[in-house]
Amino acid sequence: MRLAILGMGHVTRALLQMLAERHADLYRRFGLAPRVVAVADTGGAAVHDTGLSIPELLAVKQRGGSVSALPGVGLPGLSGKRVLTECSAEVLIEATPSRMDAPQEALGHLQTAFCHGMHVISVNKAPLAAALPALRELAAYNRVEFCFSGTVGAGTPVFSLAQASAAGDEVLGVEAILNGTTNYILHQMHEHGSAYADALAEAQRLGYAEADPSADVDGIDAATKLVIFANLILGRAATFADVEREGIREIDPGRLRAAEAAGRRLKLIASCGETLRVAPQEVAVDSPLNVSGSLNAVSLRLRYGGEVTLIGRGAGGPETATAVIRDLVNIWQRIGNSA
Ligand code: HSE
Repeated sequence: MRLAILGMGHVTRALLQMLAERHADLYRRFGLAPRVVAVADTGGAAVHDTGLSIPELLAVKQRGGSVSALPGVGLPGLSGKRVLTECSAEVLIEATPSRMDAPQEALGHLQTAFCHGMHVISVNKAPLAAALPALRELAAYNRVEFCFSGTVGAGTPVFSLAQASAAGDEVLGVEAILNGTTNYILHQMHEHGSAYADALAEAQRLGYAEADPSADVDGIDAATKLVIFANLILGRAATFADVEREGIREIDPGRLRAAEAAGRRLKLIASCGETLRVAPQEVAVDSPLNVSGSLNAVSLRLRYGGEVTLIGRGAGGPETATAVIRDLVNIWQRIGNSA
C-alpha cells in the first residue's frame, strides 16, 4: 500500500519508526506491506514512487532539516496539496498540526485526497471538528475509506469499543475525559494542592499540552474530540459550533476544596446526551471517571448493558501511531487487499 504523509511531527516520526520496525510483522499477520511514497513538511516534500528510505527521512528530521533537502527525491517548496495530485499514493495520512482556529489547509488536503480517490487516515482533529458530516459524505461519494481513530483517545481504541457496544446495544449517552492536560492540572490541584499556573507549566514540561495550551484549558480540544465522537458513534451531524463549552482557566480553588469536602473531584467532562457540552463537573471519588494524571476515560451509557468505561492514555506520538496502523490495517482489510 502506497502512503503519502503530510506533516512530520512526533506522530509521523513515531509512525515511520514503527513501520520500519514492524514491517515483517505487518506482512506476516495481515499481508500488509506499506510503502511511503511521499512526505511533506513545512519546507517542502520528498516523493519517490517506489518508496522513500525511512532511515533517511528520520535522519534529516533528527538534524532539524526538511525532507525536501533529501538528494534525488526532495522537492523544496512543494505544497501538501500538490504532493497529493502528483504522487501515486493510495492512502493519505494527514498529520499536520491541529489548528483549531485555521482548519482550511488541512480541510483542503482531505478534500483533494477524496477527489483523487485516495483513502484517508487523519490524526488532525481540526478539519473534522469543522466539517465532519460533509467530509464523511465526500468520502462516501468518492467511495473511499475515511478513518480517524487516533483523533480521540490516541492509541486507546475508544471508537472500537463504542462501535462494538453500539452494534449489540444502544448508546444513550457519553460522559468522558478527553483531554489529558486538563485532567493532569485538576489532579495536581486536588491531590497535591498545586496552583493552577504551576500545574499547567508542569503539564507543558511533560509534553501533554497542545502548542497553544488555550486549546486544552479552554476546553477546545475536548470539544473537538466530542464532536468527532458524537458524529461517529451517536450519528449526530454536529460540528464544533454545537458544543456548549466552559474550560478550567478560571477554576476557583474554593470550588475544588468544596468538592473534596463532599467526597468528590472536579473533572473537565465532555458529555453527549440531549446536548453536547464540555464543562468542569464533579464526579464521585469512586467514579470510573476519576482517573489520575493525564489519562483519558470514556464512559458509555448503554440502554441494556448499563455503564461501560474505557480508560487509557489519550496522547503521545507512539500511542497515536498505533492508531494510524490500526486504521491502515482496517482499510486494507475492508478494501479486500486489492491495493
Ligand atoms: N493536548 C491533548 C491532551 C493531546 O492533553 O489530551 C492529545 O490530543
